[in-house]
Amino acid sequence: MSIVNVGSINVDHVYRVAHFTEAGETQTALEYQVGLGGKGLNQSIAIARAGGDVVHVGAIGKDDSWTPAELEKIGLDLSAVARVDAPTGHAIIEVDLEGENRIVIVGGANQTLSESAIEAALRVDGVNYLLTQNETNAVEHCFSLAKAHDIPLIFSPAPCDESLRALPLELAKYIVLNEIELMQLAGEDDFDRAVGALKSRCPSTNFVVTLGGDGVEFIGVEDTIVLPAEPVEPVDTTGAGDCFLGYFAAGLDIGLTHIEALERATQAAAIAVTRAGAVSAIPELKELS
Ligand code: RIB
Repeated sequence: MSIVNVGSINVDHVYRVAHFTEAGETQTALEYQVGLGGKGLNQSIAIARAGGDVVHVGAIGKDDSWTPAELEKIGLDLSAVARVDAPTGHAIIEVDLEGENRIVIVGGANQTLSESAIEAALRVDGVNYLLTQNETNAVEHCFSLAKAHDIPLIFSPAPCDESLRALPLELAKYIVLNEIELMQLAGEDDFDRAVGALKSRCPSTNFVVTLGGDGVEFIGVEDTIVLPAEPVEPVDTTGAGDCFLGYFAAGLDIGLTHIEALERATQAAAIAVTRAGAVSAIPELKELS
């Protein structure tokens, strides 16, 4: 069984800085690294490293030789990754000494995904879940194709903006998001009111709310689970939420219970924040205790 993940692929330019750059300020980075990222790719790699089976539907620039070589090195199957005229997506990321980040993305090839490519991936037998985030042009397609093919949808509304409220969110089986995204998606500035609004709009959807250092709250259709985060000294939080989501989705795919999938995801994310980078920080399943 497998997960089809329709998602972004970015080249991350990561600048370690003493503090986030202020308006009008120029500062010299303490370190600079280039690595693979993109919320979609991070989640696909997390699924694979969690022992799941994933088909990544995405796109990269046809003139880019660095990204496909790097993707091959980490074992991503490129058969559903299109080579297009637009440049590969990229991200400019500042990471401060506490491991917090600020990210600017440029969509590029991520904004050129075709509905037919997604449809082709879904037609293969044994697709258990369709997963998507908000870094491609294909979010609406994913909602309609999940319905048409009767495949449970896992949606990560990240990055979040008001336009996502117009989506048929009630069709998603799982929505995985952080506290800020929860309030943005609900159009509320209070956590409990946001949960109430989304639950009444989407009675058949399970919400997984990541709370950073405070853990995770699973507000399900049948069960509610609260798990604390593992205590760690963060080095770089970039992509930790993606690592969490990929591990959670892989857990669902292989038949773990909600609590088992959440426990694995929490452990994996705790390891990821102690390492630099996005894809490079995602642990293998054997590294979890
Ligand atoms: O969630 C982290 C990711 O956001 C980075 O890898 C970056 O590419 C942006 O998509």
